[in-house]
Amino acid sequence: MINRRNFLKTGVAAAIGSRAIPAFSLASDAELDISLASPGATISPHLYGHFIEHLGGVIYDGVWVGPSSKVPNIDGIRKEFVDDMKRLGAPNLRWPGGCFADGYHWRDGIGKPSSRPKTYNFWQRRMPLGMDATESNQFGVHQFMQLCRVIGAEPYLAANVGSGTPAEFHDWVSYCNAPPGTLSLAEERAANGDSKPFNVRYWGVGNESWGCGGTMRPQEYAALYRQFTTQFPNYQEPFLVATGPRGHSADGDIGWTTGFFEGMRGYTPPDGFSLHFYTDLRPTTLKAGDFKAPEWYEVLKRGVRLNQVIEDHWREMGKFDPSHRTKLVIDEWGVWYAPGSEIVAGYILSETITLRDAVHTGMAFDIFNRHADKIAMANVAQTVNCIHSLFLAKGADFVRTPVYHVFDMYRGHKGGRQLQVSNPVAEIDVPVLEGRTKLPGLSVSASVRDRQLTITLTNPSVEAELSLRLRLAGARATEAQGRVLTHADMRATNTFQDPEKVKPAPHPVNVSGDALQLSIPKQAVVLVECVLT
Ligand code: AHR
Repeated sequence: MINRRNFLKTGVAAAIGSRAIPAFSLASDAELDISLASPGATISPHLYGHFIEHLGGVIYDGVWVGPSSKVPNIDGIRKEFVDDMKRLGAPNLRWPGGCFADGYHWRDGIGKPSSRPKTYNFWQRRMPLGMDATESNQFGVHQFMQLCRVIGAEPYLAANVGSGTPAEFHDWVSYCNAPPGTLSLAEERAANGDSKPFNVRYWGVGNESWGCGGTMRPQEYAALYRQFTTQFPNYQEPFLVATGPRGHSADGDIGWTTGFFEGMRGYTPPDGFSLHFYTDLRPTTLKAGDFKAPEWYEVLKRGVRLNQVIEDHWREMGKFDPSHRTKLVIDEWGVWYAPGSEIVAGYILSETITLRDAVHTGMAFDIFNRHADKIAMANVAQTVNCIHSLFLAKGADFVRTPVYHVFDMYRGHKGGRQLQVSNPVAEIDVPVLEGRTKLPGLSVSASVRDRQLTITLTNPSVEAELSLRLRLAGARATEAQGRVLTHADMRATNTFQDPEKVKPAPHPVNVSGDALQLSIPKQAVVLVECVLT
């Protein structure tokens, strides 16, 4: 095991591990100060948000099994999915895409299910030869709203700018939000089963308008954004999200941000500016489920670039909008591997999810938390059967992936005030696909809500554990609970046959007044929670 104790030493150089050794007689690799004196921005619960699209096995099978299915369901919606999303307190759900959104006409998904049209799905082009992706429209607006209701999530609708019209968009808003007894659209909604308005607040005005949403230039899109939003029917104050950059492109796509905001000069900027950031391994030979240390680190290296991308776009936005009215909405993020590990042919973009993806998730969430002042919402792509999934589902089979457990472990941050943490752990020098690179030696974020302190820590090393001392500057604690997510095998994954291979376990934390001491195993995400006295 590599020795990482190059930092602060608080006692004899003994190995961490024995719970019998009294607190603080042990050597620490580093001492972190958590400052409680002046908590920062509130971490919006919406940073832990979701995204589902009509793509492969996401909606049909992943979410929607139909009311006559043998799979336990609530009005056609997979019950296990609902139960787990409720348990997580999923704050929001983005739908119907993604690329699908800019080809979707909402009227196709209302009315009697048997009368709904069969329509073309954008993702047909990616289906294996001979397989069909025709959209049945059995899961439409009312089914989606019912899903949000049973989970307790806020709906976030992505409107069709790429092939729709402003009128179609405005009618969708009225159909969803007009009070009963006002517009004919409200009567139509009531006739379709929902007299009460859905009160949708979050509206995405297009998706990836630089690509599948219309291959536009930023100024062209800005013009359309203005056109689509000027006559927006205001039943309640909306939160409008404009299409932002392809953050994972080689240059971070700053040009899109500059061009869009230039095109918006003199006009009210949007509430949210969508940033997509995929840890994009598609151009590589790297595999989702079979890898060694260099491929582990390659994914994490590409993942932490998100921090720089957020800062770069925020700075650029500030040039046009110094008061930062517009916040970032990272409404697609996740690790995206080349095809090859689909759970079944036709469930395109579904991937094996391993401990590596869980560790990536911990590091991404810490980045979100630390930038809580800049980010209004983030949505994992996608919640089930697609890319960075929390769940895999096929017929009666359903499994929580390692990523699910990280969402679960980070719940305590929601609505908390972000805390400054000094992190003196040195970068680690690690092998990647080509040569070597430096990675943060420890990822950490902390928040406080009603005297409840939540600290999350991720050790990206596949070789060495870390021994840490956390000093609470300005507070004390008498006890703390710890949980750890790790596995001896870095490729460990949960399958339908072995669904609990990777799951959190209790983790010891020693407490003494204003200090906590604990070890962070290699390749692990750790949660520490305590009530401050
Ligand atoms: O999440 C899969 C796809 O990735 C989405 O449809 C699109 O917006 C992005 O390119």
